[in-house]
Amino acid sequence: MQATAIAQPNIALIKYWGKRDIDRNLPAVGSISITLSDLQTKVSVELRDGLSDDILLVNGDENQAMLPRMSACLDKVLGQSRLRASMQSHSNFPIAAGLASSASAFAATTVAAAGAANLSLGTQDLARLAGASSGSAARSLYGGFVELKNADDNITLTPLCDVDSWPLQVVVAITQTGPKATGSTEAMEISRETSPFYDNWVAQQEYDLEVARAAIDRRDFAQLATIAEHNCLKMHSVMWASRPPMVFWNAATMRCLQTVRRLQGEGHQVFFTIDAGPQVKAVCLPADVDAVSQALAETSGVQEIMTTGLGSAARLVESL
Ligand code: PMV
Repeated sequence: MQATAIAQPNIALIKYWGKRDIDRNLPAVGSISITLSDLQTKVSVELRDGLSDDILLVNGDENQAMLPRMSACLDKVLGQSRLRASMQSHSNFPIAAGLASSASAFAATTVAAAGAANLSLGTQDLARLAGASSGSAARSLYGGFVELKNADDNITLTPLCDVDSWPLQVVVAITQTGPKATGSTEAMEISRETSPFYDNWVAQQEYDLEVARAAIDRRDFAQLATIAEHNCLKMHSVMWASRPPMVFWNAATMRCLQTVRRLQGEGHQVFFTIDAGPQVKAVCLPADVDAVSQALAETSGVQEIMTTGLGSAARLVESL
């Protein structure tokens, strides 16, 4: 009754922002992401007789704040009359800071829970269960480039291109650590209810997905760069125009964007994307990774740089 799983976060190039069904946590739009290799979350789940409540340790410390969502994740996989569980989660990168730690945490928890109960679920089912806990987590059930589509009554996931076929690199510039002010579910609902740009955001997403899919199919970096930056800035424009406005950026975030523009002007193949946090992710070709990491490391206000390639799907492992 015990299993451990590992999952890597993913970064959306065409982003998910907004829900069409809050109770089932179904997204309003499809998305396309890349799963990363070097950042990872390992979760072990032990289902125990005689335990009166779930227990959660995050990086070695008891964590009451995340416990309700982790317990709800177990309920989704195992049903509410399940045994209580002792869970341990370890991430090798800052959590709740716009680095997609919820994607890797809920993907790993879903796989570990199914493993602990010996359920034989397919990847698509595991992805749907993970997505019910955190929309972006569904994508970490696959490696490489992944598309999450809105099907009639659910989501479906399609791998678009594997890691070796287009081995892009991602340089993450951390401009601020510590948890973010507004969680993504709340922020998405504020956007849906108040942003004058929200309906256009949803309406245009299919076109952005098509352009990105075609760019990935042809390994066309320039086209992927243009549509990914546009999609990212459009998502943030939705947030900025919400009431209250949600600005996740800081001054260093903006300086990183200027660094990426300068690198592009010098001929480097790189583009930026930013999620619901102040960190900048610069996606580049392997030949450009040294120049990109050096330039971002030298950008004023950047605290730390992490470089990663693209990685594989969430999976069971032997132990923590
Ligand atoms: O999965 P959530 O609820 O953490 O939402 C993730 C939203 C973004 O990271 C901003 C975009 C995305 O598609 O990952």
